[in-house]
Parts: sequence; structure tokens; C-alpha cells
Amino acid sequence: MPGSLEWRLYYEQNASSLLDIPWQVGADLTRDEGAAIAQSLKAFQAGEGSEGKHLLRYAGEYAKRTGDQEYVAAIRLFIAEEQRHARDLGRFLTLNAIPLAHTTFTDRVFRRLRNLIGSLEVSIGVLVTAEMIANVYYAVVREATRSIVLRRLCEQILRDEVRHVQFQAEQLGKLRTDRSWVGMAVTMNLHYFLYLGTVWVVWLTHCRAIRRGGLGCFGWWKSCWAEFREAFPSPSPHQAIRRLGLGRTS
Ligand SMILES: [Fe+2]
Ligand SMILES: [Fe+2]
Repeated sequence: MPGSLEWRLYYEQNASSLLDIPWQVGADLTRDEGAAIAQSLKAFQAGEGSEGKHLLRYAGEYAKRTGDQEYVAAIRLFIAEEQRHARDLGRFLTLNAIPLAHTTFTDRVFRRLRNLIGSLEVSIGVLVTAEMIANVYYAVVREATRSIVLRRLCEQILRDEVRHVQFQAEQLGKLRTDRSWVGMAVTMNLHYFLYLGTVWVVWLTHCRAIRRGGLGCFGWWKSCWAEFREAFPSPSPHQAIRRLGLGRTS
């Protein structure tokens, strides 16, 4: 499992090897495509933009507790990537004469949830929920359009988001290392519940764009849960026994 130093180095390297977005192509979203995906894309653009002040504070507190200063550096670079997503999506929307949305109801709910308890675990647990959905969503949007600019942009965001999910899931794993089996079951059930709700809300509010990208309700459901299982595989029987405290030799 990479540590925070490896993640910091990864983010630095990633920032210097981005795909070229062919902005020179100009406004290439057709009217049909715009009608199907513009509102949806606006909402995702609003969700990508955040100063990350609270997250940085939680990361700083974690670093103080553990001495892991590299985690703060990695989180800073992670936030910068999310801000790049917001900036690039905003540029694409503006290029196509689509006005930006500053926030949406779902975005406000998610921001509240992230800071509900004021802990790093809750904050990145909620964040990774949105990022797993983003992994399915941007793949669908890429298929919903022939816009060269948007397709390339989706490709870049997907490359980044896959790593974001790994980054958050690994950090959650560290934060939950010593949790008992019961504590872990409660935690994971809360996470399932949050994810379940998010999958449905995103389907209900973005189904037009998702359908245009070729996924029906069942396909969306299946893809989202495949994403969840990949990020948070169920523990093996051996790991489950260890969590029960039955497999210790000393
Ligand atoms: Fe993002
Ligand atoms: Fe992300």
C-alpha cells in the first residue's frame, strides 16, 4: 500500500503529465447533446469546485496526531486536482455558452455531510462516495457526446478519479485499522446506506444524461455497485476472523 509520500509524488507527477485538451476545437457540443447533458454537467461542475478548507484542517489534525506531514501535502495536491476539474468543466460549459451553476441542492447536502462530525474519516468517506459515482458518471458522459473536447476532458477526469478513489479508500483503511468487527460492520453499513441513497439521487436527477450515455437504470445500478466493490472489497474469511480477534497468535 503506497504511503502519503508516494501519493504526494504521484500527484506531483500527474500534474506534469496531463492530457492535452483540444480547446482550439471550440464549441463542439451539438444542440441535442446539450439538451441531454448540459444541466447534468453543470451540477457536476458545481460539485467539483471546493476550497477544501475543512478537509485541509482535518488533514492537519491527523498529521499532528500521527506525524504524517506528507498526507497534508498530498491532500493539498488532491484538492488542486478537484479545482482543475471544476475549472476545466467550467471552461467547457462557457465555451458552449452554457451558464455555470454555483451550487445545487445535492452539492449543498454533500458539503454538509462532509462536515457533519468534523472528522477526517467522515469527510473523506463522503468524498469517496461522490468519487465512486463520478467514475461511472464521467465514463457515461464520454459516451453521451461526440464533442472531442468533452470526451478528452472526461478521459482526464477519469484517470484522476480512479486514483482519487484509491487514495481515499487507502486512507480510510488506515483510519479504521484498529476498529473491531462490530464497529467495522456498523461503519460499512452506514457507508452502504449513503452510497445507496447517492446512487438513486444521481439516477433520479441525471437519468437523461445517463441514458444518453447508454446506461439504463439497471446498468447504472450495476456499474455503481461494481465500483463500490472494487474500492471496498469485502474482507476475506481470514481477515474477518482476525477482526473478531480469533486469529491472533500472541
Ligand atoms: Fe473531480
Ligand atoms: Fe476526485
